[in-house]
Amino acid sequence: MDAEAEAALREGAPRLHMVGISKSFGGVAALRDVDFLLRAGEIHGLVGENGAGKSTLMKIIAGVHAGYRGRMLIDGREAQFRSARDALAAGIGMVHQELSVVPDLTVAENVFLGKQPTKRGMIDWPGMVAGARQQLASLGIDVDPRAPMGSLSIGLQQLIELARVLFSGARIIILDEPTSALSPPEVQRLFEVLRGVRASGRSIVFISHFLDDILSVSDTVTIFRNGRRVVTEAVGKIDKGWVIKRMIGSGHEGLEESYTGAITLGSRPSAPVMLSARELSASRAFADVSLDARSGEILGVYGFMGCGQIELARTLFGKLKPTTGSLSIDGQVRRFHNTNQARRAGIAFVPESRRSMLFYQEPVYKNVSISVLGRISRLWLRPAAERDIARRHVAALNIRPPDVAALLAGLSGGNQQKVALAKWLTFMPKVLILSEPTRGMDVGAKDDVVKIVRGLRDQGLAVIVVSAEPETVLSLADRIVVMKKGRIVREFAGETISKDRLLEAA
Ligand SMILES: Nc1ncnc2c1ncn2[C@@H]1O[C@H](COP(=O)(O)OP(=O)(O)OP(=O)(O)O)[C@@H](O)[C@H]1O
Ligand SMILES: [Mg+2]
Repeated sequence: MDAEAEAALREGAPRLHMVGISKSFGGVAALRDVDFLLRAGEIHGLVGENGAGKSTLMKIIAGVHAGYRGRMLIDGREAQFRSARDALAAGIGMVHQELSVVPDLTVAENVFLGKQPTKRGMIDWPGMVAGARQQLASLGIDVDPRAPMGSLSIGLQQLIELARVLFSGARIIILDEPTSALSPPEVQRLFEVLRGVRASGRSIVFISHFLDDILSVSDTVTIFRNGRRVVTEAVGKIDKGWVIKRMIGSGHEGLEESYTGAITLGSRPSAPVMLSARELSASRAFADVSLDARSGEILGVYGFMGCGQIELARTLFGKLKPTTGSLSIDGQVRRFHNTNQARRAGIAFVPESRRSMLFYQEPVYKNVSISVLGRISRLWLRPAAERDIARRHVAALNIRPPDVAALLAGLSGGNQQKVALAKWLTFMPKVLILSEPTRGMDVGAKDDVVKIVRGLRDQGLAVIVVSAEPETVLSLADRIVVMKKGRIVREFAGETISKDRLLEAA
């Protein structure tokens, strides 16, 4: 560290100061008169409801949005960026909420995107591969830097994108929900790296809906609400209830309680089995999986990212073929050759990658109704019916803005997730399989989804929730099976369980 950086760190000097920032989209305010101060050598956590304005402010800092009101000061000097490239040149790097890796390039090329090392004017391939290998190793990632990015799991891609920004030399690093596809050990490794980055005097903004993570890694927390900065406080002085109260208002402080404390699982052993898997295996992904999903019960399937739970869900839905084992639905043995057969047998599957199935340039109602079009068009295609169905879901899921004619592209990340979920909840199956149903949602939105899924369960559906987020499984499930390296290693039923015990079992 040079002398200047050291002095700045000692004083926690203002590194970035945003003053009176306002930003509108098509006349609707996304940020109103926001002041935001980021100091040298700090990790600054940013929280707030879906649509509160977090990503918008960060995109202004990173040069993505050029049109806004207000001033930006970097190390006390006025700055104005016309592009992300400008911001990068000024030492600002951002990992966006939506993964932005290039799947056709190799891992090494992604790590060095836009700044490939050269030797005598030529790209230094061996240098690049070795450099990537070393940087990835420090994040605990063991992959061949020459592998194509697209061949890796989403979790690994997310880590590699993090590596790209963390090692880019940027002095201000913005991470917008960087942990959504990481498993707990990977998150811990990332936090170690972030602490190292902080020790070198650089500054980090860390956005997350996981309040435990925010409170454990940040020095300072800023809360956004409805386009305004509500409060900024040192982490030592606050706790989760305090944060939730300022994020979404009084009366909700207990929302996340069940994740940290112990919760009691209430199983229903006498209800009829709707889906039964016996010794199911799919080559390499999982083996010998036996489980029952009962009517009126939510079964949680928990495991770290990549432990086979996603492949299991796909197999139950006829998307993957099992190599051995059997599956029965409502007492009848079934062999699905495609997802249509599974759907006709009464299985609905909401995939974790549902965002890639959205139509961003279409209005919200089109996105919601596409999966029910079959049903509507059997009568005839009535836009009014389409909108009515969409309006009900938009209200039930509390989607904002509550305007079914709004273009999907203009919704915040978490609200797009809600639309994606709504789209799949439009018909009533016997078995509902949800993969990562609340990813990217704020605590209030998660609570909305929990209520909706419980409502479906109470109508007699057998629900299977597959997730790598302990919070998701704990908040929803009546019974939990834990997967590890492709096998079920533990079942929790009719007992009291906490996040720690669940993590231990995985
Ligand atoms: N490109 C855009 N066009 C129109 N409106 C937008 C655009 N980007 C954001 N908005 C609106 O600005 C507001 C703030 O959105 P932003 O993405 O900053 O929220 P966020 O706090 O990051 O939420 P989340 O937790 O869901 O990611 C929202 O009302 C959103 O609909
Ligand atoms: Mg966002």
